[in-house]
Amino acid sequence: MSGDEQRGLSRRAAWAGGDNFISRLMTEALARPDLVSLAAGFVDQQTLPAEATRQALDALWADPTRTRIALQYGTTIGHRSLREAILDRMLKADSLGPGGSGPTLDQIVVTAGSNQLLHLVADTLLNPGEIVLCAAPSYFVFLDTLANVGARTVGVEVDCNGIIPEALDEELARRKTAGELAAVKAIYVTTYYDNPSGTTTTTTRRQQLIEIARRWSHENTIYIIEDAAYRELRYYGDETPSLYALDGNLDNGEQVIHAGTFSKSFSPGIRVGWGILPKRLVGPVLAQKGNVDFGSPHFNQMLMATVLQRGSFDRHVTGLRESYRRKLDATLASAEKWLRPLGIDWVPATGGLYVWLRLPDAIDTGLGGSLFRRAVSEGVLYVPGECCYPKEGYPCPKNRLRLSFGVPSVEDIVRGMESLARAIGTLG
Ligand SMILES: Cc1ncc(COP(=O)(O)O)c(C=O)c1O
Repeated sequence: MSGDEQRGLSRRAAWAGGDNFISRLMTEALARPDLVSLAAGFVDQQTLPAEATRQALDALWADPTRTRIALQYGTTIGHRSLREAILDRMLKADSLGPGGSGPTLDQIVVTAGSNQLLHLVADTLLNPGEIVLCAAPSYFVFLDTLANVGARTVGVEVDCNGIIPEALDEELARRKTAGELAAVKAIYVTTYYDNPSGTTTTTTRRQQLIEIARRWSHENTIYIIEDAAYRELRYYGDETPSLYALDGNLDNGEQVIHAGTFSKSFSPGIRVGWGILPKRLVGPVLAQKGNVDFGSPHFNQMLMATVLQRGSFDRHVTGLRESYRRKLDATLASAEKWLRPLGIDWVPATGGLYVWLRLPDAIDTGLGGSLFRRAVSEGVLYVPGECCYPKEGYPCPKNRLRLSFGVPSVEDIVRGMESLARAIGTLG
């Protein structure tokens, strides 16, 4: 019996792990208010939509009937007019007409942030010991969620265009040889401006990914979990069709689970996310959600629906893109000036909130390595790359780190990048 079981805790409590490193980073940041945090993946405090939210609240409040509906419980699947607005946006973003090969309203489930959707999907699909193939690196919170349900996470190499199809194929072949193919339930990728790698999966790669998932789905369906948390934060380049849309064109949308959110594009405090699910998963995911909360906060959903109906969301996103573009530019220009001469490289992100650095091989960016301490004493925090790798598969390199440019001002970004360069320089 494990220590946790002896203390009367469930196995899932043990799988959830103890002290997580983000809490440690936060403690560090709070203890040193002078630190520039290039670590937290929060959105910019200054651009949060206070006025647009007040106006939407006023509009909702002005109608007593709607106000009372908002103050009542809603349905498990979510508020209808919000789901309609989400569907409409999704169809437009993917250039799909209503009634065509795109998703239908009954496939749209509203959740408390996309994190809840990801959690419900993990609960719905995975038994302990089953496998999710994850981009290496991946969004570390979801890696923890998967560990929390007892799933195994196996990393697959990525490059500047997203997950590498040949590497994915080889990993699946390895699992087949090991007699584990039936245990592979899903592939997890953040397709737009990835957290942490900053990369966007190209359309060709997306098509290859779907083809591979489908080809290996002969023992059971291998779903692709498409995390699109940063889709709206596009600063350069054209819109890319979602995996979901490409899947729909090929196979009526039965392979891809799409997770979206208004957290990054509007407000994480309102915390409304959604899933677009293959039809056969809608019932099982709703059954899980029914057990958790039988519906996300109705008030927040109606508020978000009002924001969308008033056109405030699109106006906000336009301004947000301008502001984050300046921060991304400042991060990349500083990296070019101070980090490139130190032998550091990166894939320039074209959206999102992150820049992923590759340092010289000899530098260990880990929490226990010398750079982390040096960086803190120089006044800057980053997320060590080691936190972003699945437990198995592609080996965790020691020399990567994630920078987030969402929260600090342009001036602080420049100061933080100079401090980081100084810290790295002292190791040389
Ligand atoms: C890749 C990714 N997915 C999902 C989320 C969850 O966001 P939320 O639950 O607020 O929608 C985040 C948050 O940082 C993220 O970075």
